[in-house]
Amino acid sequence: MQISIPAETTGGQTRVAATPETVKKPLLIGVPKETAPGEKRVATVPEVVEKLVKLGFSVAVQSGAGDAANCDDDSYRAVGAQVIDGAAQLFAASDMVFKIGVPTPEEVGLMHAGQTLITFIWPAQNPELMKQLADKKVTVLAIDSLPRTLSRAQKMDALTSQAGVAGYRAVIEAANAFGRFFNGQITAAGKVPPAKVFIAGAGVAGLAAIGTAASLGAIVRANDTRAEVADQVVSLGGEFVKVDYEEEGSGGGGYAKVMSEGFQQAQREMYAKQAREVDIIITTALIPGKPAPRLITADMVKTMKPGSVIVDMAAERGGNCELTEPGQAVVKHGVTIVGYTDLASRLAKQSSTLYATNLFRVAEELCKTKDGVINVNMEDEAIRGLTVVKEGSITWPPPPVKAPPIAAKPAAMPAKAPKHGASSAPASGKSTAITFLIAALMFWFVGAFAPPAFLGHFTVFVLAVFVGYMVVWNVTPALHTPLMSVTNAISSIIAIGALVQIAPPLMAQAAGNRPEGWILGFAVLAIALTAVNMFGGFAVTQRMLQMFRK
Ligand code: NAI
Repeated sequence: MQISIPAETTGGQTRVAATPETVKKPLLIGVPKETAPGEKRVATVPEVVEKLVKLGFSVAVQSGAGDAANCDDDSYRAVGAQVIDGAAQLFAASDMVFKIGVPTPEEVGLMHAGQTLITFIWPAQNPELMKQLADKKVTVLAIDSLPRTLSRAQKMDALTSQAGVAGYRAVIEAANAFGRFFNGQITAAGKVPPAKVFIAGAGVAGLAAIGTAASLGAIVRANDTRAEVADQVVSLGGEFVKVDYEEEGSGGGGYAKVMSEGFQQAQREMYAKQAREVDIIITTALIPGKPAPRLITADMVKTMKPGSVIVDMAAERGGNCELTEPGQAVVKHGVTIVGYTDLASRLAKQSSTLYATNLFRVAEELCKTKDGVINVNMEDEAIRGLTVVKEGSITWPPPPVKAPPIAAKPAAMPAKAPKHGASSAPASGKSTAITFLIAALMFWFVGAFAPPAFLGHFTVFVLAVFVGYMVVWNVTPALHTPLMSVTNAISSIIAIGALVQIAPPLMAQAAGNRPEGWILGFAVLAIALTAVNMFGGFAVTQRMLQMFRK
């Protein structure tokens, strides 16, 4: 929407602000009530409305839109949003619409030319919808089309935020259907073994499930066709179970690919073994643009212990388990198979808040001027990827992202991947030799001109730097925080300096001389302070390492 302000003249001079120009009015963001059956989420929450208002936007919410996510109309009013009765009125008043679900034909019918819509669209699966939106002359940003591998796009990544919530909820659903504790216990009434949980697929949802199940005390194992996730599984408290078959599992962009028949056979054998051993299986395996891979067969279900649970997070895409019924929890062969397709919606407040924050970040990117006016900048790779319809023209699919994907590492990560300086490439070997030569020349220079005492200290300093570097470099990144706290404790070697200072005054006192009181005071203070550092550092390290122990 645009309004024109005429030029204004004062005392014969034209003020800059009053020159004839077009001033854009801040946009009104409308948030309708979701219409998909059972959907409890809402596209924005009061905490985020406040931030949108600070960006210069006005916000209107359809009455009752947030009820199921614990955000009633009054909570929106309290932060300055309007509450509008009825979807038709809301769509008519809004310049930009924030939604979650794919718009229904009725909702598309309510849209008007010039409006902007941000929601899930899945353009590849919904070509007819794309045509209808283009006919309406609107601009559409599909949140599912965000180029996820762009590191600056992560804050807008609703697929990740919703998958994380769903992974957490999958474990809660499993715990609800499972008849025992997750953690092992020794009580007066008997010993309880910990539950064994197997997670198939360690993407965003799978990793969230691993972390949640491990924090509840279960023994967690996981498998994925992308070998690069093994470290992440371990750092979250799980054990990575490999398939006994060498094959690259990455299909690019951080996603998986369809594996060869040989691999699938070996994987089925491993999964059959896990099915016999574990109590709970949570499956999350997906391949973009393909039906979900069938990983758990009916025969595997039959071998599971009675009372076991399977949560099939891939139910909507055909299911990873042969016996899953999408949207239902059923009991087959004594095993509860949960195929809910609304796991994120079952934690509506949490998923709505994260989704609302993702959309706020998109709004920030669209409105860099912070004046409530948007610019759908097609030069920006993230915005270009998101924009599937621009002012009535279909702009999907976007050109490939130029920036290198941060997660698209080679899947077959060798156990000893060549690290910095360890490459066998001749160029790298040459640069190492040059570095050593320069270091040797520097030592010769220092030795030739510096006093002998300096050379000794300098050698110790260089060796300490080298040893420190090698120690840190070879520690797995997940353990960097405990490493820092232990080095903090070790750095308390300052205590030795303080002790050295204390000793001479005491000896002087023994010899009948007057001790230097202020030195003694400072040294005692240094020992007291460094003791806090030392014991605190070791205590914190101990606690952190406990988190990694099973
Ligand atoms: P997804 O939902 O498509 O797949 C889930 C998981 O199933 C993936 O880890 C996949 O490797 C696994 N899988 C597929 N077929 C399998 C099979 N036959 N057996 C076992 N596992 C199988 O993927 P999601 O969770 O949306 O993202 C996957 C990965 O993409 C992430 O783990 C991350 O590495 C990458 N990613 C990168 C981002 C970034 O760079 N900013 C953002 C989001 C995701």
